[in-house]
Amino acid sequence: MPSKWLKYLSLLESNDRRGKTPYEYPVSDESTNIRLQQQDPNKHKLEQSLIGKMLEDPWQVAIDFGCGTGAHFFLFDGPKQRRNLLIGLDPDCKRAKWAEQVAEYRLQFLRSYVTCGGIEILENAPEQLKADVVLCSQVLGHVSEKQTLRIIKGFHRILDKNGRCGLAIPVIGSAFKENPQVGAWSGKEDFTHLVAMEKSPSDQGFRRYLTLEEFNQAAKTPEPGLLPVRSFFIPEFPNPLKIKLPLWLEAPPPTISKIIQPFFRVEKCAIYSIHKDPDSPVLPLGDLFIQLRRK
Ligand SMILES: C[S@@+](CC[C@H](N)C(=O)[O-])C[C@H]1O[C@@H](n2cnc3c(N)ncnc32)[C@H](O)[C@@H]1O
Repeated sequence: MPSKWLKYLSLLESNDRRGKTPYEYPVSDESTNIRLQQQDPNKHKLEQSLIGKMLEDPWQVAIDFGCGTGAHFFLFDGPKQRRNLLIGLDPDCKRAKWAEQVAEYRLQFLRSYVTCGGIEILENAPEQLKADVVLCSQVLGHVSEKQTLRIIKGFHRILDKNGRCGLAIPVIGSAFKENPQVGAWSGKEDFTHLVAMEKSPSDQGFRRYLTLEEFNQAAKTPEPGLLPVRSFFIPEFPNPLKIKLPLWLEAPPPTISKIIQPFFRVEKCAIYSIHKDPDSPVLPLGDLFIQLRRK
């Protein structure tokens, strides 16, 4: 299977008939990492441990979808993976190029192929090309509703029977309404907003509420410096001061559950990070990891 994938991907690149729509992710890893260190320095450790567990069962072909600069590539590598292939995809060509270099320098055992592109690459793959695992970490919180459905369908198409898929998404609870920057958010649905990553969370204008339609538009062509974020609403979000992470949940947030349900079974679902904005009370805002099995 890995060699068939390599043939498809290199043909795709040499023909370059992907009709790529230019996309630039609006913020740098540097600025998001600074913010992350302030909000939850343990986030990466727990995220990596959940992804690592998902990768423990044997696999041959894995896809890191929306791989960014390849921060998770090393999790796929190991002496048992010598014959395996990791495919990294990101529609921001500069980030994909960076990830390609990370793969070259950091991966010791695995074969890898990193290229610029999104879901169309999986949609257009020949029917017999299948993958065993797809990782989609912190991507669905930044794409339109239409894209989200396309992405989930694309994963279902490309995964082998019984294939697994890991999603990491931002989540929110209604008590976040106490934050003065939520604007017209009802506190009962996904919180769609823009984050001005260069500002500090206590600065005015760090978060700006968008309607879902405005978010869908902003996610297609983001403005530099302004990250469109859809935090998925968890109706019974537990008190963040009383929980121990990871906190296992019975079901993912309703909006994402509805999309996933026809295609996947939920195997695991855990809140793995709570964002503590400096100088603010601790409110229910964080990240969730969902492990899925193809139906
Ligand atoms: C927050 S970063 C996450 C990067 C990486 N997955 C990680 O967890 O470190 C979001 C990434 O999603 C990519 N992205 C944005 N829209 C996308 C889409 N429609 N399909 C795939 N990736 C997308 C961005 O270019 C960016 O690299």
